[in-house]
Amino acid sequence: MPESSAIRAMFGQIARRYDLANHVLSGGMDRWWLRCLIKKVARLQPTRIADLATGSGDVAFALSRKISSAQVHGLDFCEPMLSEARRKLADGAGDPARIKFSLGDCLALPLPDNSIDAVTIAYGVRNFEKRAQGLSEIHRILRPGGTAFILEFTQPWLWFRPFYYFYLRFLLPGIARLATGNRHAYDYLVASIARFPDRKNFAKELKEIGFTEISHAGLTASIVAIHQARKAPES
Ligand SMILES: C[S@@+](CC[C@H](N)C(=O)[O-])C[C@H]1O[C@@H](n2cnc3c(N)ncnc32)[C@H](O)[C@@H]1O
Repeated sequence: MPESSAIRAMFGQIARRYDLANHVLSGGMDRWWLRCLIKKVARLQPTRIADLATGSGDVAFALSRKISSAQVHGLDFCEPMLSEARRKLADGAGDPARIKFSLGDCLALPLPDNSIDAVTIAYGVRNFEKRAQGLSEIHRILRPGGTAFILEFTQPWLWFRPFYYFYLRFLLPGIARLATGNRHAYDYLVASIARFPDRKNFAKELKEIGFTEISHAGLTASIVAIHQARKAPES
């Protein structure tokens, strides 16, 4: 896995154009995937939510709009991405009384044990330098019975893979260069997607960390999946 410092620097370079690039490269599907994630979290009506690898904050904003009782804490280790989130908060994207953003590395979260009802993380886990360490941190901060929601790229349906990887390898880098001026960041995106485990193997990793009630739902021919996993309630 790439070092955290390289990941942080890369996101720092694309921060200003990150939102636009996301919408363009996913053909707008990112908005639908976000809605599906928020709907799942809202079913549990959590109060204390940590949105990890929050980036420019869209998951945090959507959570606070949908769940009126939620206090949402967005954390990321890349200051330029957080600046985008804070700028959007100042522009009215969310209620400053219920959302805050702060610097935090998912491999050593600045949050107490058992303090969070629900963790969300969208397109973040794939970038962890040490995935098991990051997943353990998520488990640590959740209260017993709390739930993690992980939205991540996964391996799509078999028949769809040739089309998908053709798009990723031959079309996406050029579009990314036009949208962001930075082709390198999106070469990394393709490589990191190809490396990420499929849904079943990722579920195994979650189980090894100690999560229970693990489930996953693929979206759009399983280009992405929402993984849901619970910290066991205290017995
Ligand atoms: C692809 S962006 C996702 C942003 C946002 N969650 C979204 O849905 O648009 C990945 C984010 O993960 C952050 N990130 C990667 N590794 C991290 C780590 N170890 N700790 C904190 N943030 C991390 C990056 O800085 C970047 O903002």
